[in-house]
Amino acid sequence: MNSCALSPPVLKLVLKIRLLDGRRQHDRQGVVLVTGAARGLGAVIARRFHASGYRVAIGDITFNAAQELASELSADHSTAFALNLDVTSKDDFSAARDAILDKWQRIDALVNNAGTSKVVPVMDITAEQFDHVIQVNLRSVLFGCQVFGQHFADAGAGRIVNIASLAGQNGGSATGVHYAASKGGVITLTRFSRVTSPRAA
Ligand SMILES: NC(=O)c1ccc[n+]([C@@H]2O[C@H](COP(=O)([O-])OP(=O)(O)OC[C@H]3O[C@@H](n4cnc5c(N)ncnc54)[C@H](O)[C@@H]3O)[C@@H](O)[C@H]2O)c1
Repeated sequence: MNSCALSPPVLKLVLKIRLLDGRRQHDRQGVVLVTGAARGLGAVIARRFHASGYRVAIGDITFNAAQELASELSADHSTAFALNLDVTSKDDFSAARDAILDKWQRIDALVNNAGTSKVVPVMDITAEQFDHVIQVNLRSVLFGCQVFGQHFADAGAGRIVNIASLAGQNGGSATGVHYAASKGGVITLTRFSRVTSPRAA
């Protein structure tokens, strides 16, 4: 999938994994996990991957909705299945990785898409609201990159796409500053994350 084909307002950043085996071309047998894919942009991304021939793991905290989409894409769940994945939990990312490998024996890409936003004036943002937005939007990206970046490095290939936002660059007019700050963090985290394959040593 050409990541540039995704929704234009969304800033898409690719975490580049150093590869020993060279860049893998589009692979009809590829496997991708999309987080927050039960609805919205994540569901669009999951559909596009599936239509392109990928097998798609649909990760979300709203499992029933994720399951509905998986069943729609693949009635027997042979090419799409739902995962109960809370991106605020590193253990959930590890469990998702293991479940996908168990089912399909490979993973080629992760799309860190899950996110949350709530418009709250800066002076009214509570500690709980701030922490929640940072955990769902930013800490999740760190966990996804750690768990899947390590897997891709060990496997010698893989792609991670982190969904940021223009709000992370210009603050945005329709979001809270906690949202904008979290997306600015996603941009920085993506820019400076590097995972080295042991095979490249
Ligand atoms: N919609 C836009 O205009 C826009 C613009 C810029 C960036 N983005 C980004 O794109 C991504 C998707 O946005 P959207 O508009 O489709 O959002 P949405 O609210 O429609 O969907 C978000 C999905 O993430 C899931 N989710 C929320 N918390 C989760 C958690 N803890 N673990 C797992 N899943 C969780 C939700 O259940 C939902 O399915 C977000 O990262 C958002 O910040 C969206």
